[in-house]
Amino acid sequence: MRLTRKGLWGGIIREYREYLPEIEDGAITTLLEGNTPLIETVNLKDIFGDIRLLLKYEGLNPTGSFKDRGMTMAVSKAREEGSRAIICASTGNTSAAAAAYAARAGMKAYVLIPDGAVALGKLSQAIMHGALVLQVKGNFDEALSLVKEITRNYPVKMVNSINPFRIEGQKTGAFEVCEHLGHAPTYHFLPVGNAGNITAYWKGYKEYEKKGVISNLPKMMGFQAEGSAPIVLGHPVADPHTLATAIKIGNPASWQGALAARDESGGVIDAVSDEEIIEAYKLLASREGVFCEPASAASLAGAVKMKKEGVLNDGDTIVCTLTGHGLKDPDNAIKASPKPLKVPAELKKILVAMGL
Ligand code: F0G
Repeated sequence: MRLTRKGLWGGIIREYREYLPEIEDGAITTLLEGNTPLIETVNLKDIFGDIRLLLKYEGLNPTGSFKDRGMTMAVSKAREEGSRAIICASTGNTSAAAAAYAARAGMKAYVLIPDGAVALGKLSQAIMHGALVLQVKGNFDEALSLVKEITRNYPVKMVNSINPFRIEGQKTGAFEVCEHLGHAPTYHFLPVGNAGNITAYWKGYKEYEKKGVISNLPKMMGFQAEGSAPIVLGHPVADPHTLATAIKIGNPASWQGALAARDESGGVIDAVSDEEIIEAYKLLASREGVFCEPASAASLAGAVKMKKEGVLNDGDTIVCTLTGHGLKDPDNAIKASPKPLKVPAELKKILVAMGL
C-alpha cells in the first residue's frame, strides 16, 4: 500500500495531484476514496496453478464502487466551475456516487436509472443521499441519450464518464496497482459496461510508464456479459440482457477507448455468460472471503475462461478489478445461495441441523 506523506490518506486528488488536472483547494470534494486493497488470492490454485492472482477490491471505496475515484474529480471540477447541479444516467453505481458527492458539495443531483434494472443497495444510496431519482421506462442507453440532450440545453453538469474528469480520477486505480506490486501486472482483467474504466486504467498505466514509475505495461482484458456484448459483436445491442445489471449496456460511450486499450496493449475484449459470472461470484465469496457484485465477477470469470483457453501462463501476475461491493446487490446474493435453515429454538434440533 502507498505510504502517504502524513501517514493519513487524503483521497485521490490530494494523493495524485501531480498526475491530475489542476484544481483549486477550496473546490476539492472528497470522501477519502481510493487506497483500496490489492488482495492476493490463496485458495484458487486448483484453477490457476502457479499464476499469481490478485483482486483490486474497489468495493471498499466510500460508496462501495470504483465510481468514487471519478466522481471526486468530476464533482470537484463542477464545483470549481460554479455548477449548482449534476446529472447522470446510471445502472446504479454512478448514481450512488453522484448522489453522495453532490451531497458533500452542497449540490443538487439528478439521476436517471433504468426502471426495474438497478440493484437495491444502489437505489437506496441514491435516495438516501437526496438525489432526485428518475426511474426511466427504458434502458441505460436511452437514459444516457436523454441526459446528453438535457445537458446540451440546461445548466446541469454531466458526470457520466463522457466527462473527461471521471476518466482522470479512475486512472488512479492503475497507479495504486503499480505501487502495490512495484510493477504492472502481466494481465489486467476488468468488467466492461460503458467502457470508461478500461479506458481509464489503460491511461493510468501508460502515464506511469511514461514517467518511468513502471517499465512494463499489462495486457488489458475486458469482459462483457454475453447478452450485453456490443464491443465483442462489433455493433450496438438494442435490448441488452444480463443479470449483472451494472454492465447491462448496449452502446458503450467509451467504445473507442476500450478498443484502443485492447489493441495498444495486445489484450482482449471478450464475453462471459451469466452462468460463468455467477460461478466466479460464488467462488470469490466462498473461497476467498471477498464479496463483490455480479458485474465485478465478470473480471474473474474472464480470467478463468482465459486460463481454460491456455492464454495465461505459470509465473504471470494477474489483477482482477472487483468494481463494486457485494452488498450492493443483496437480491442476487440470496438467489445464488442455498436458503438458510429455519429451526425451532431447541438445542437438540439445532445440534441435529449442525450435524453434531
Ligand atoms: N462494474 C460495476 C460494478 C459497474 O457499476 C460498472 C459500470 C462497470 C463494472 C463497468 O464499468 O462502465 O466503466 O465499463 N457502471 C456504470 C453505472 C455504467 O452507471 O454505475 P464501465
